[in-house]
Amino acid sequence: MNNNVKLNIENKAYELPLIEGTEGEKAIDISQLRTKTGYITSDTGYKSTGSTQSAITFLDGENGILRYRGYPIEQLAENSTFLEVAYLLIYGDLPNKEQLETFTSGITRHTLIHEDMKKFYEGYPSKAHPMGVLASMISAMSTFYPEAQKSQLNPEEVDVTIRRLIAKSATIAAWSYKKSQGLPIIYPQNRLGYCANFLHMMFALPTEEYEVNPTVVKALDVLLILHADHEQNCSASTVRMAGSSHASLYAAISAGVCALWGPLHGGANQQVIEMLEQIRNEGSDIQKMVAKAKDKNSDFRLMGFGHRVYKNFDPRAKIIKKACDDVLEELGTRDPLLDIAKELEEVALSDSYFVDRKLYPNVDFYSGILYRAIGLPTEMFTVMFSLGRLPGWIAQWKEMRDNNEPISRPRQIYVGRKERDYEPLEKRN
Ligand code: ACO
Repeated sequence: MNNNVKLNIENKAYELPLIEGTEGEKAIDISQLRTKTGYITSDTGYKSTGSTQSAITFLDGENGILRYRGYPIEQLAENSTFLEVAYLLIYGDLPNKEQLETFTSGITRHTLIHEDMKKFYEGYPSKAHPMGVLASMISAMSTFYPEAQKSQLNPEEVDVTIRRLIAKSATIAAWSYKKSQGLPIIYPQNRLGYCANFLHMMFALPTEEYEVNPTVVKALDVLLILHADHEQNCSASTVRMAGSSHASLYAAISAGVCALWGPLHGGANQQVIEMLEQIRNEGSDIQKMVAKAKDKNSDFRLMGFGHRVYKNFDPRAKIIKKACDDVLEELGTRDPLLDIAKELEEVALSDSYFVDRKLYPNVDFYSGILYRAIGLPTEMFTVMFSLGRLPGWIAQWKEMRDNNEPISRPRQIYVGRKERDYEPLEKRN
């Protein structure tokens, strides 16, 4: 490949270097563009802009490929565990037995949250959305562990912060659910694995025995693995951007949780279920919903459909769809929303509006049904996404700091008023 590209601006020629990734992805390096030409590029929403060079996740949206550190998502979902995948994302390779044991026991040791943090739960309204609780509690962790701000590049300190974040976020999330239900919080049981412990904190009651179902544990493990990273999406970019100011890892992750919350990103899984419930409540008229999604006078979109980068299929949606069928069969439950979802998918995929725009079910389309089967309430869906995405955010933050990336500071094209003089109040209309 030619290593440069020529650019002509106002009859002057400039050479810009080309970059090629290990999977053949190509980019024009414009980092010197403004210095050399006085011009910037304009790309609202970053549709054609690469913000970094990353070795964590490879995603080919045209061909439905997703790999973490080179490993296909299908193989990881089939064979791995969430904590093993977390290690892979954060440290670059699959752990050997000893590394995995050290990592796992390090996380297990940190599952308790500081007793003083428990008091925060008393201050939230009972209807507080658990994403708001999660974001603020993670941010509050920075006040309990201020050394994370001071020693950001000390590897041992970073490792402890990573373990604290992964372990305590699960406890924070489960307790936010208990509080929303007015139920007593359940302390972690460190003899249990990560997913089993989470389910125990969510569903156990002090009044009765609770047995964790291995099928549900496996399904949760798969869900978390599928959500663990997705290269430079909105929340990962937010984590990198917040962290680029050298705010602590806790602060950066809290920012990531907030970014994930929105319905166009991680919040879509909650919206999918609400949409399917609406279809059911209105007499299961799928054609009506599809027509509404196509109507340009309506704001309504088919939630769980479409993706900024997947323009063929979302490989995660395929795995989740199958997991959904398996779990419902194993648990012997039937969910009428699954039937509506399948029918909706069929109708949309044979409609030229969706076909022409390459709109396919994304990861959120079926994950909600799986969460429901596990017994998780709708408001917890995006929290589950956050727990899954946490290792990815950490890996993105770590890569950005290890590579000593500069502070993220995009430019803009100003389109506001030209300079004008201050008008005294009595002279204004
Ligand atoms: N329903 C109906 N029409 C849609 C949908 C949808 N779900 N998604 C996109 N379109 C249409 C748009 O109206 C637009 O049509 P037009 O060309 O006639 O104007 C065209 O498809 C392209 O859509 P954009 O919004 O430009 O695509 P973009 O890449 O910016 O957005 C997004 C991607 C945000 C995911 C979008 O498809 C969407 O809103 N989907 C629903 C929400 C959702 O499921 N989000 C979860 C994403 S996965 C994740 O974050 C984990």
